Amino acid sequence: MTIQLNEHFAALSKNYLFSEIARRVRKYQQSHPDANIIKMGIGDITRPLPECVVSAMKKAADELGNADTFRGYPPEYGYDFLREAISIHYSEIGVKIPIDDIFVSDGAKSDCGNFVDVMGDNDIYLPDPVYPVYRDSNIMSGHRITLLPSGRENDFLPMPNAKTGTGVYYLCSPGNPTGAAYSAEQLAEWVSFALESGSLILFDAAYEAFITDNNCPRSIYLIPGARACAVEICSFSKTAGFTGTRCGYTVVPAQISANGVCLRDLWARRQATKFNGVSYPVQRAAQAAYSPQGMAACYENIAYYRKNAAMLASVLDEKGIYYTGGKNSPYLWLQCPGGMASWDFFDYLLEKANLVGTPGEGFGKCGEGFFRLTSFSTHELTEQAVRRLREVL
Ligand code: MLT
Repeated sequence: MTIQLNEHFAALSKNYLFSEIARRVRKYQQSHPDANIIKMGIGDITRPLPECVVSAMKKAADELGNADTFRGYPPEYGYDFLREAISIHYSEIGVKIPIDDIFVSDGAKSDCGNFVDVMGDNDIYLPDPVYPVYRDSNIMSGHRITLLPSGRENDFLPMPNAKTGTGVYYLCSPGNPTGAAYSAEQLAEWVSFALESGSLILFDAAYEAFITDNNCPRSIYLIPGARACAVEICSFSKTAGFTGTRCGYTVVPAQISANGVCLRDLWARRQATKFNGVSYPVQRAAQAAYSPQGMAACYENIAYYRKNAAMLASVLDEKGIYYTGGKNSPYLWLQCPGGMASWDFFDYLLEKANLVGTPGEGFGKCGEGFFRLTSFSTHELTEQAVRRLREVL
């Protein structure tokens, strides 16, 4: 063929981070068929969906099997019943979001990756370490990326500084991979910076439901002025156990515009063109998750994962290992012991403890020497993992 392919893909690492980990684990399992491997790499949940969520999904599926209640294409931006439930969820945490600003999708990963479609020629600023979707989707689009280094010196919470100019800033709080959460004061600094410099913040709030610290906002819209400079992306995956069910949403406030063009109009146009909505049963399930009964069940599951996080944190405390996360987040981000490189530590844990985590280097240069564990496993497996960690750390 003589067609041109997207040359920017050449700048990506060969495999997506979590695909690479899965590949290495499969390879290890093949050569060690008896190894009882505990997976704490990708942040995939283990608790089943709440009962009211499953009933709503089944009822909706039944409606689709009946000529009187059958529905075809869903509305492109989500059914109003779900957009209203999301708006109510926001009001419960003290934020008023009109439903026209809410766009339902099949998950935060898609929205984070797709947002590049509505961006022009901008400087893109990403935290380092970073959720690879922000980085890889911008590399694929050939955008100019500047990394905002983070580390122990700023507890993995980069802030605007003299070198940060006008551009698009991706922030994630509580952060993936570091689990570190911005305080209200820090987010207020980000919002003033964005307003003063004419920048846009893409705020990933996928882990907001894990926040316990009252001074860490669950939405950037709790910060005055954020509606003029921030888009917020959120998800049912970790809050309600929808990693396999797939549902998320993005808030694009109507007042954000650049050169007279309204960003929300562009995102609406993009979604109407490239996305055909989330299935009716899944949207009914998501609506049930945000009902009072659904949220109570979701918080029980979150409390379950928090207990796992506390178990993992206790072994790190015991061993005097530096870490962030675990308190406002399902992730624990720890410093590899003995100055080990993160992929070496990955191999070490896999071989010595049959334990899988995520090497920090996969999230960026500043992640080298660090390692991520998730608390999304079962209590039983987390207890086993803690015993193994105690032996090998
Ligand atoms: C992670 O492990 O970082 C997440 O599960 C990935 C995702 O949500 O796409």
